[in-house]
Amino acid sequence: MAKDKTIFVCSQCGYESPKWMGKCPACNQWNSFYEEKLVKSTGAKYEKKKEATPVILNELQGKNVIREQTGFAELDRVLGGGIVKGSLILLGGEPGIGKSTLILQICDKIKGEGQVLYVSGEESAEQIKIRADRLGINNKDILFLGETDISLVQEAILKTNPKLVIIDSIQTMYSDEITSAPGSVSQVREITSKIMRICKENEITTIIIGHVTKDGNIAGPRVLEHMVDTVLYLEGERYFSYRILRGVKNRFGSTNEIGMFEMQDKGMTEITNPSSILISEREDNPAGSIIVATMEGTRPLLIEIQSLTSTSVFGLPRRTANGMDYNRLTMLIAVLEKKAGILLGNQDVYINIVGGIKLNEPAIDLGVILASASSYKNIEIPKWVVAIGEVGLTGEVRSVNLIEKRIKEAEKLGFKCCIIPESNKKLLKEKYKLDIIGVKTIYDAMKKLGLK
Ligand code: TYD
Ligand code: MG
Repeated sequence: MAKDKTIFVCSQCGYESPKWMGKCPACNQWNSFYEEKLVKSTGAKYEKKKEATPVILNELQGKNVIREQTGFAELDRVLGGGIVKGSLILLGGEPGIGKSTLILQICDKIKGEGQVLYVSGEESAEQIKIRADRLGINNKDILFLGETDISLVQEAILKTNPKLVIIDSIQTMYSDEITSAPGSVSQVREITSKIMRICKENEITTIIIGHVTKDGNIAGPRVLEHMVDTVLYLEGERYFSYRILRGVKNRFGSTNEIGMFEMQDKGMTEITNPSSILISEREDNPAGSIIVATMEGTRPLLIEIQSLTSTSVFGLPRRTANGMDYNRLTMLIAVLEKKAGILLGNQDVYINIVGGIKLNEPAIDLGVILASASSYKNIEIPKWVVAIGEVGLTGEVRSVNLIEKRIKEAEKLGFKCCIIPESNKKLLKEKYKLDIIGVKTIYDAMKKLGLK
């Protein structure tokens, strides 16, 4: 008898290899290969089926996209103005971040006729009920099904014909047509394509929940990204209450929007004015702190950056970057040393972006530099100053995009002064109530704040 052939599949990106590898050559993930039985193709020869006739694109009638409000304005914005009827959405995130909570709240709030079918392979009906009680949900249009066999789930979907189906989570579902374990790449792919078929044929909106772990152990929803219409990720630090919902892919809208939520004891609440919340806990004028204006999608966000420099007790000074790129930080420290003469060679430098939020926009560079200089010199930066600007290797402050939006947000929140790149200042069209200081180099900016 011929031996069953097996292949090894990367759980992160789906790369296939005939032998096991420690590191995936496609996505560079370590230890992500799974062994899977090769499913034999039926080997049928090409047979003539019914004819496939291409159509003229121009003559097609565009179908109107129907959008339904989810009850969360933050989510609607990320989706591009509401959830599109009949679309397939993947919601990814680490375990315990609040996916099930957010989705249950959506089940309750979503507009439109019909019922919602919540399929869970993770929790029992009682557990969901306890969560619903905690969230204050009392809705007779939510149906619950505790099932992991996809063929039974399919039947239930057809029987109830709901407006919205939730699959929580894709890793727990299995199809008995495939031999590998639930959560493996081939299972996850097969189940998603089954759900996709049923949801597209019947115009049922579907949200699939998928776990991603930091070490990528479970078959990541990454392999599904190309199959679904929309991919959302819920991010945040587990021990902070803020959560960011980010659109990674969207066939019905842009992907550069984020939604902000806060996990409270009664579920997720929207944060409609994130800037004012993120800077509300600030101390009065501490040295080493400054506000920066970053863009998240089309929305400006004011955030506090803190820096602490302290004399290092070891030969090799530490650099710690919480919420920003580590390499970017070491580069900025080098620029600060060389171009502004702040010698940090014997100093540990810690950077913290307040609120557990991650920023990877270069426009925060100037803020990081100024906060570090302020901490080193122990000179406070006034509380009403916002710093915006990318910093280059020669110490120049480079222009950033959407400067007017950032300034307006600072003005709205009562700041009195914005330090911005000179090149941006020249092109400003509007007049603002706050002072706008244009700077060419980091040296200029430090001088203006008395740090030099
Ligand atoms: P959950 O939605 O179960 O996470 P996921 O589905 O992403 O794994 O939520 C997990 C955490 O959220 C849990 O540790 C408890 C907390 N939580 C609250 O803080 N408030 C609430 O109202 C609820 C329902 C949960
Ligand atoms: Mg869950």
